[in-house]
Amino acid sequence: MTTEIPKDIRIEQIAGHVGQRVTVRGWVYQSTPKGKLLFMRLRDGSGMTQGVAFRPAIGDALFDALKGLGQESSLVVTGVVQENPRAPGLPAGYEIGIEAAEVVQETADYPITPKEHGVEFLMDVRHLWLRSSQQWAIMRVRATIKRAIIDYLDGAGFLNVDTPIITPSAAEGTSSLFEVDYFEDKAYLAQTGQLYNEANIMAFGKVYCFGPTFRAEKSKTRRHLTEFWMVEPEMAFFDLDDLMTFEEQFVSHIVQTTLAQRRAELTLLKRDLAALERVTPPFPRISYDEAIERLHAIRAATEDPDLRADLAIEWGDDFGSPHETALTQQFDKPVFVYGYPTQVKAFYMEPWPGRPEICKSVDLLAPEGHGEIIGGSERMSDPAVLTAAIERHELPMEHYQWYVDLRRYGSVPHSGFGLGLERTVKWICGIEHVRETSAYPRMLKRMTP
Ligand code: 4AD
Ligand code: MG
Repeated sequence: MTTEIPKDIRIEQIAGHVGQRVTVRGWVYQSTPKGKLLFMRLRDGSGMTQGVAFRPAIGDALFDALKGLGQESSLVVTGVVQENPRAPGLPAGYEIGIEAAEVVQETADYPITPKEHGVEFLMDVRHLWLRSSQQWAIMRVRATIKRAIIDYLDGAGFLNVDTPIITPSAAEGTSSLFEVDYFEDKAYLAQTGQLYNEANIMAFGKVYCFGPTFRAEKSKTRRHLTEFWMVEPEMAFFDLDDLMTFEEQFVSHIVQTTLAQRRAELTLLKRDLAALERVTPPFPRISYDEAIERLHAIRAATEDPDLRADLAIEWGDDFGSPHETALTQQFDKPVFVYGYPTQVKAFYMEPWPGRPEICKSVDLLAPEGHGEIIGGSERMSDPAVLTAAIERHELPMEHYQWYVDLRRYGSVPHSGFGLGLERTVKWICGIEHVRETSAYPRMLKRMTP
């Protein structure tokens, strides 16, 4: 070893250090002895690479110490970076010829081993599971999606205005409210920031909020969390068509940015990248009426009795997961479904001109069976129509006076939507269950760790 001072690097930068002596600080992911050689998969949080120790080069004492290290032992390794097309890792194709190492903590009996574990066990050790390469990749994709969302909206002239989490009333139905004691009063965790966004656009034109939202959902599905992040853009002087055009640009930007910046992670997750490459504007737009006709046709054509039962639906019903799955399988891009029955949607949606039984709502359903990722609408702009809707839904008028005010002072046509972050991550990563898209998911039966 020369006296050259090694560079402290993170593994994600390793490609820029070929031929150089570097130091990496991290953990042992896996280690495989082969005679005089020891192959160590090392991770440092930014990536994964292969360390190779050679007994004659480093001496018996160090070699045996490294060989004895259990999975997730922490250590500092110094050596020269070499290219090796066969070396696994992220990035793949590099290895470190280990010259020196210092063990920080030797670990034994790490609970997650390369064998298969049940998902309930893995959720119990979620604080450790995050270190596994797939979970690690999903979190990195999530961070990139979040960044892409913010960059797009900031670049499009939106002002980020935060909305409250403690709220006095419901916006998305009273059945999924989390109640909190607010001194002598009752309050609820926000289901959405939308109503405040509507006030904010009258001050700032285009706004978004992006934060955690809460639903006391009793549903135990692959798509429901009780705490999830939602980005909600809202625009003044915007109608339903404007909304769909904006959404398809926005979603395409998110997907293409993630594909460009997280290709390695998506590949590790075995995502079909071609399916993501197809996500470019325009997206197909179908009415709720047409969606019902399509579902009836799919149902009539299937021989499968279970699917037949799952797909039963009448005009006026909301879609369940099986309906969304069947519909999206007919398209290779996300699909808009607009004009839902008023009775299945929130109170604030603008009625369809000439057809009061439907409203100017639009959901965006993700392909490959992932289903709804966006819910949005044009909002009621007439104070009398809105007041009647609040009464019809038996909502406490005193909490909505300010909301009606927005229609009294300079009301304009306006629209907005909410995109669920976790459902979007689930779709882009191509994973089965939304629980893996959150570091510490909150669900009907789980709020630990
Ligand atoms: O369709 P939702 O309920 O719409 C609203 O809350 C509107 N106020 C948004 C707006 O117009 N500003 O929810 C919007 C999205 C859904 O499409 C879904 O992606 C996500 O939020 N979402 C959930 N994600 C995970 N778990 C849940 N329980 C979710 N509920 C909604
Ligand atoms: Mg919805």
